Amino acid sequence: MQQVRFDEEFLWGCATASYQVEGAIDEDGRKPSIWDAFSRVPGNIMNGDDGTVAVDQYHRYEEDVKLMADLNFQAYRYSIAWPRIIPEGVGEVNMAGVDYYIRLSKALRSKGLSVVATLYHWDLPQVLQERGGWANRETAYHFQAYAEACFEHLGPYVDRWITLNEPFCAAYLGYRTGEHAPGIKDEEQANRAVHHLNLAHGLAMRSYRKTGLKAPIGTTLNPIMPRPASNKREDILASEYARAFNTDVFLLPLFNKGYPKQVTEGMGISYPVEKGDMEIIAEKIDFLGINYYQEGAVAYDESAISKHKDVPVWQPVTNQRWPVTPYGLLRILHYVQGMDKELPLYITENGCANDDILKEGRVHDLFRCDYINKHLAICEQAIDEGINLKGYFIWSFLDNFEWAWGYSRRFGIIYVDYETQERIPKDSAYMLRDVIAGYCEFD
Ligand code: FCB
Repeated sequence: MQQVRFDEEFLWGCATASYQVEGAIDEDGRKPSIWDAFSRVPGNIMNGDDGTVAVDQYHRYEEDVKLMADLNFQAYRYSIAWPRIIPEGVGEVNMAGVDYYIRLSKALRSKGLSVVATLYHWDLPQVLQERGGWANRETAYHFQAYAEACFEHLGPYVDRWITLNEPFCAAYLGYRTGEHAPGIKDEEQANRAVHHLNLAHGLAMRSYRKTGLKAPIGTTLNPIMPRPASNKREDILASEYARAFNTDVFLLPLFNKGYPKQVTEGMGISYPVEKGDMEIIAEKIDFLGINYYQEGAVAYDESAISKHKDVPVWQPVTNQRWPVTPYGLLRILHYVQGMDKELPLYITENGCANDDILKEGRVHDLFRCDYINKHLAICEQAIDEGINLKGYFIWSFLDNFEWAWGYSRRFGIIYVDYETQERIPKDSAYMLRDVIAGYCEFD
């Protein structure tokens, strides 16, 4: 292997999301989000956890920013909580909420970190859920107005914008399987949500282009491309169906390729597309963010709407049974780059949950170090093979509220003692610090 292939431009960052880290759910005018409501229902979240306190970043952001800088990070990807900016979902902007993100962004820049802000990482104002949430087309327009408020008030403080985080999860886990807020299980609503999330992205893009702001703007997907379970024709077909249903419905419209035929014709799914929608969704993005954790396998299943079912794979798994499959990332990068050869790509999330044990002030999370190493080696290889990969963001900067898993799964490179909120860097944090500094023996 050659030496250091990540050039000086390569952006090393860490990521979190508002509901997972902020806490302070009713401070400075914030109103409930769908995750506050969903967490309150017994049985939805492991151990009955919720994000009321989370890791209290709302009050501890200065300490966190200092830690990021000490660990050599060059960028922080945070998400803005819609219920802080427009607590009623529509209408008045809450300047106290805006102020938090101004303070956070200023703190980041004062330490030389660049600011990557995601507009929607799943915390929809609960009042909008009461009007149908993402199954209602109006939500896309309310999102546009919220995005405009962010551009107006936070424009000078943000270096890169991401419209949505993983619309796959928002639509399918939120409205199809019901594992995530708002906890609905309804195929039709899920498909409506797919289109309205795509539309919301496009509307925000259109508004952004009118602002004259120069910071790059894109979106973040979690492309899912499972392998076929066997070399049988029908299993190969199943993997194409899986990619179409889980990934292409979000990816292709961004590149003006419409909704995939496997879904519209093969599965008979229709989307509530109105005149002009597809042009709006295809507004050119400046970069694409990719979140990557695992690759599965699928077999053909005639009885399933999406014509495929997951089957077990043989790779070693993380403590939440996600297989460790670094080569899947390479396949995805090539597939996505195939949409546009020049488009800058960022890994906006990658990481794993691990059984972290704090002992004498240290967490020797070697499993996580190995996981990260393997994926960084793939990033290098991808760049070698011509992928326009511009940065890597670890998920997550610190342990946090892992959605339906509550606090039972630790994804951080910083350990959080949930009793005291003390932050303790794990070995993986020190390893990344050195990788960023140029230490490159990660393969
Ligand atoms: C992604 C989410 C992120 C985190 C990781 C583990 O799907 O975007 O918030 O939960 O998974």
